[in-house]
Amino acid sequence: MNLIGFLRGLARLVAGRPRIPRSLSDNEALLRVLERRSIRKFHDRDLGDDEWQAILEAGRLAPSTVNLQTWSFSHFTRDEWSDTFDRPLPMGAPRAVIVLADTHRARRVVEGFPEVPLCDFTVGVMNASLAAMNMTSAAEALGVGSVMLSETGKTGFYDAAELSTTLALPPGVVPIMTVIFGWPREAPVMPPKLPLDAVAFPGRYCETPQPVLDAWYEQMQAGYRASTGQAFQRQIDLYNRRLAEAETDLQRMVMDTETDPR
Ligand SMILES: Cc1cc2nc3c(=O)[nH]c(=O)nc-3n(C[C@H](O)[C@H](O)[C@H](O)COP(=O)(O)O)c2cc1C
Repeated sequence: MNLIGFLRGLARLVAGRPRIPRSLSDNEALLRVLERRSIRKFHDRDLGDDEWQAILEAGRLAPSTVNLQTWSFSHFTRDEWSDTFDRPLPMGAPRAVIVLADTHRARRVVEGFPEVPLCDFTVGVMNASLAAMNMTSAAEALGVGSVMLSETGKTGFYDAAELSTTLALPPGVVPIMTVIFGWPREAPVMPPKLPLDAVAFPGRYCETPQPVLDAWYEQMQAGYRASTGQAFQRQIDLYNRRLAEAETDLQRMVMDTETDPR
């Protein structure tokens, strides 16, 4: 790497550090949240039962619309994963949860559950995503690393249709992501994040200045090239190829609404 590249990298590292008001800088819980990073390399060692139980419990206790808890968690050890999918758990992780948006369960008991597929799906995805985040936060509190995955090859939402068969999902249950967990074997630097005033503003929507966006995208491209040796465009092309098929599958699953299954 040349000197300019090195200095740029250093500047990125410094700029990427969480901004924590000095008065709060010794708050452990806050630091855990702000310093969380996606982990993609794991030690072989499995998680303990207590850690695993606590992580799943955090999913169970997440907030949800009208407390409907529209989620399910299909969880796996390494062996269970390879028995089910005939391939190893991604990135050497010892544990995984396939997070499912699930309005099927509530529909079995709530009278007059509305027949509104888009809202139904949105509510399911929203709540299940929060549960996923709660699990990763609990993991973080225990020193357990995690990453959410949508493209693990037959396990993310790209593969919703296939997963629906493999996991015997009823209508109204849609896989949205896989979260893998394990003891971290890396300490990744912060990927390029937009500055706070580009994403948070008082009240009315505020357009991010173009130079700020351009600088961010340039960093994204550089970061991708540094970590994979490939052009970022390759990832976009991959999305384009996979998403067209996923769109059709999801539309079919989402529009295949349930009538009251009781
Ligand atoms: C819904 C969702 C899906 C993701 N899918 C993938 C994935 O398929 N592969 C991957 O390596 N990372 C995946 N990520 C992780 C993101 O790349 C990561 O969150 C982002 O680069 C920001 O990094 P950070 O989590 O360290 O802040 C996903 C994250 C989310 C929230």
